[in-house]
Amino acid sequence: MINIAIDGPSGAGKSTISKILAKKLNITYLDTGAMYRTVALYVLRKGVSVNDAEAVEPLLKEINISYTGDALDKHIHLNGEDVSSLIREHHISKAASDVSKIPAVRLFLVDMQRKIARENDVVLDGRDITSYVLPDAKYKFFLTATSEERALRRCKELKEKGQVFEYDQILKDIIDRDENDSKRAFAPLVKTPDSIEIDSTKMTIDEVADYILSFIK
Ligand code: DC
Repeated sequence: MINIAIDGPSGAGKSTISKILAKKLNITYLDTGAMYRTVALYVLRKGVSVNDAEAVEPLLKEINISYTGDALDKHIHLNGEDVSSLIREHHISKAASDVSKIPAVRLFLVDMQRKIARENDVVLDGRDITSYVLPDAKYKFFLTATSEERALRRCKELKEKGQVFEYDQILKDIIDRDENDSKRAFAPLVKTPDSIEIDSTKMTIDEVADYILSFIK
């Protein structure tokens, strides 16, 4: 199986690039962040704090994550409900980052991610794919950009979805989330020594995709 692992901080362009790679290579794309977002949505709906590991853990057995759609336009379902748009709301980002610190949540999702990677040619993006989920993946990349550039991109993306936020607020949220994701105890965001680092600050999407493809061909 071809497994392409892409990690990096939020807003670095991982999902846009991963979709392009999946399309060009005719393989599946797995957005692992969407899985953490889906768990966060369920926990919030239950009125439970995303920081309360003891209360979150028993909820995991009530969560069934499934997909519909084709390899490139996958919709994520929470217990049968298509939550693909709901999980993109801005408040879910921080909730996902918080819930992802709970080891039981990570183990629950990592199991699913490894199974998908065993059975499919897949490009996966996330925070711990190169370091923890698939440390032996043949292709490993760490995609980054300055926090200012990532905040600009995130503002634009949210605006396109009708969610308008101040740039300063988004920049602060991005910096906080970087810290939350990199400083957690279990499987934090790190660049592994064998990952190819790409700073996308001054690159176009196509330039990044072509650069990654140059290693894969
Ligand atoms: O990629 P994203 O912004 O949709 O991810 C949301 C949060 O989920 C992110 O801030 C941290 C967590 N996450 C994680 O811990 N591990 C992953 N492999 C993917 C996401």
